[in-house]
Amino acid sequence: MVETPAIDFEWPAKGLTRIPYQLFNDQNIYDAEQHRLFRGETWHYLGLGIELPSPGDFKTTFLGETPIIVCRDKNGELNAFVNRCAHRGAMVCHHQSGNRKVFTCPYHNWSFDQKGNLVGVAFRNGVRGEGGMPASFNLADHGLETLRVDVFHDVIFGTFSNCVAPVETYLGPDLRHHISRVFNRPMKVLGHYSQFFRNNWKMYMENVRDPYHASILHLFFGSFGLSRHTMDGAALLDERGWHSVVYTKRATDDIRGSEYEGDLPSVKTGLVLEDPSLIAGWPEFDDKITNCLMTVFPSVTFQQISNCLGVRHIVPRSVDTSELFWTLLGYADEDEKQTRIRIKQSNLYGPAGLVALEDGAVTNMVQRGILGADKDEASIVELGGEGYESGTNRVTETVLRGFWKAYRETMGV
Ligand code: FES
Ligand SMILES: [Fe+2]
Repeated sequence: MVETPAIDFEWPAKGLTRIPYQLFNDQNIYDAEQHRLFRGETWHYLGLGIELPSPGDFKTTFLGETPIIVCRDKNGELNAFVNRCAHRGAMVCHHQSGNRKVFTCPYHNWSFDQKGNLVGVAFRNGVRGEGGMPASFNLADHGLETLRVDVFHDVIFGTFSNCVAPVETYLGPDLRHHISRVFNRPMKVLGHYSQFFRNNWKMYMENVRDPYHASILHLFFGSFGLSRHTMDGAALLDERGWHSVVYTKRATDDIRGSEYEGDLPSVKTGLVLEDPSLIAGWPEFDDKITNCLMTVFPSVTFQQISNCLGVRHIVPRSVDTSELFWTLLGYADEDEKQTRIRIKQSNLYGPAGLVALEDGAVTNMVQRGILGADKDEASIVELGGEGYESGTNRVTETVLRGFWKAYRETMGV
């Protein structure tokens, strides 16, 4: 853990079942997260190998707040380095993706190679014998800060930590299995978009791990039978409780005699869609899992929801804003019809999605609701107990408690 100034914060005695609201709106805690958590012993999603197929291909992204360039060099190796000029700190690259032999900073034209090494300084020797850098200036001392990179099934992860275990170990067997299950053959990118949230980044990472709300807040899921608690499923956590897999099997649904026929005010089970092609698809996986969210602490979720495959990557923008970057995926070998089905279903997700817009709305309702809360006020995360065990019951907040366990361990709180 990188040492940062002390923060004025104490975790409640009730442990993982109480999450202080202060964690979502305290600037000092937000600043500490950038060092302790994002630069700590954690791996972060940087992109996919298929986004950078050729030497010189690059993309820009963020690790926490820090701007990052990911680049495939001329030998085919993947490199990641901070997108912050070694001269005076300007962002070197302003493009989302492209191909470069060198990255040249717009401010004074210092240039960096595909590994982030400084290879050129404008007017290094001055002009007509005057000015320029001192003779002692050594290019090799002023490269861009580099990250450790690891790749799992074409998913590129990066870290500032020298000691965190390799990604395969970090993920543990359940996450490895479920990520491999989706990334089982070459994929293709169907699109990118981002969604701006007016809420702290952790509010979304709680939300995406929370099966409790899925068929309640999301009327579409509950009413049209895409995801209900009456379906078979599981909430799995790795040994440390840091990462999670939550899945459901739609075909196993049986709401007869269940709570759905009682008094759940928002769920209407008798509705049918005027145009069922909106959610039409095909069974894609032998294990019959139809909804699967695989979340790797701290900041990325891989998804299979019906036939919508993709990645959601959260970037903190300020203490009370964040941005979620979506990458929609299909398989390189699929036919045009399958691709069209994935794109049609994706109307349910993303910033204006019939399902996902509700997540952005409700997390902002929490951010607004906690304004003015006292330091000892906290949310209640007791559904399903106090621990972070795996189980087949999804009326539980076990996966949220796992997130907060990881948070406490990385933040030292
Ligand atoms: S800030 Fe990049 S060259 Fe000066
Ligand atoms: Fe949701």
